[in-house]
Amino acid sequence: MHTAEHLILRELLARDPDWVSGSALATKLGVSRVAIWHHMEKLRAAGFTFEAQRARGYRITQKPSAAHASLIDSQLKVRPRGFSLLVLPETDSTNDEAARQLAAGRPVPFAIFAHRQTKGRGRLGRTWHSQANGNLYLSVAFRPRVAPDRMGAFTLWMGLNVCELLANFASLKPGLKWPNDILFDGRKAGGMLTEARIDADQIRDLVFGLGLNINSLSADWPAALGGRAISLSEVTGTPLDFNRLAAALLGRVFLAYQNFIDGSYTTAFADLWHRFDVLRGRSIALLEGGRRHTGTVTGLDDEGALLLRDENGRTQRFRAGEVTLEKLA
Ligand code: BTN
Repeated sequence: MHTAEHLILRELLARDPDWVSGSALATKLGVSRVAIWHHMEKLRAAGFTFEAQRARGYRITQKPSAAHASLIDSQLKVRPRGFSLLVLPETDSTNDEAARQLAAGRPVPFAIFAHRQTKGRGRLGRTWHSQANGNLYLSVAFRPRVAPDRMGAFTLWMGLNVCELLANFASLKPGLKWPNDILFDGRKAGGMLTEARIDADQIRDLVFGLGLNINSLSADWPAALGGRAISLSEVTGTPLDFNRLAAALLGRVFLAYQNFIDGSYTTAFADLWHRFDVLRGRSIALLEGGRRHTGTVTGLDDEGALLLRDENGRTQRFRAGEVTLEKLA
């Protein structure tokens, strides 16, 4: 979209739901009111609806409800140098598309949103159901150039940041279930999938993938998910502004990534972990490499590995695995 339309959207969104006069927009952009009118027509063609009154100007009455590049871009508060954004109607997996774009040399950082994924992937080779239903499918690509062993707690850190953002954005009370589930009252609303390509002793590139159920209805999901998943709008009881949330999440991803890479994240990590972790002190079963371990979660080590104390009082650390909560006695 043309920069002038970006600027117009930025002004209208800043005043939303109030009016912005045509002459104020014309002055801001240094163009005539007729030129503003032409830009408004182009925005209408892109799916926006506006109210226009001679005496008051323009105001937005309807925004696209699915990921929209200009809406995300114009609401982004953190914009790293060289950043670019792609919104695709459909792709196999935004993580795979990001890997292809990286391989083709696209400058980082960049973000890819899709309305729908045909081969959305979760952890452990699982399918991530990805219909075009108001949910978010996002991948963000970086080239961190750090040693792979520094990245152990990365996905957890990103998940904690997503949780805090959601808590602030819509007064939600999310929980993070190690290693990558975002939960509301035990039902999953989101998950993260970080994938990296490694060159000798350095990470060449890294893709952080986030799937978040935002405005979907669990009744429309595959029966296999039965009762285990939930969307944010079901938690709040009202639809959320998709693109405002998408921009806020993306901005937070950039900040969290920067804090992680420069090493300044550790104190905040402990605080956020204390606030959002749902496992501490709980009896769990952990499946790892075909073996089942049971015990009580005592915390995390510096690399984000889960510490589990078994019934003999012996503590083991796990870097990966699938956790199920044991029934409370
Ligand atoms: C999980 O909970 O197992 C992780 C789910 C990650 C899903 C997201 S959706 C965007 C990105 N593209 C994918 O194919 N997967 C991640």
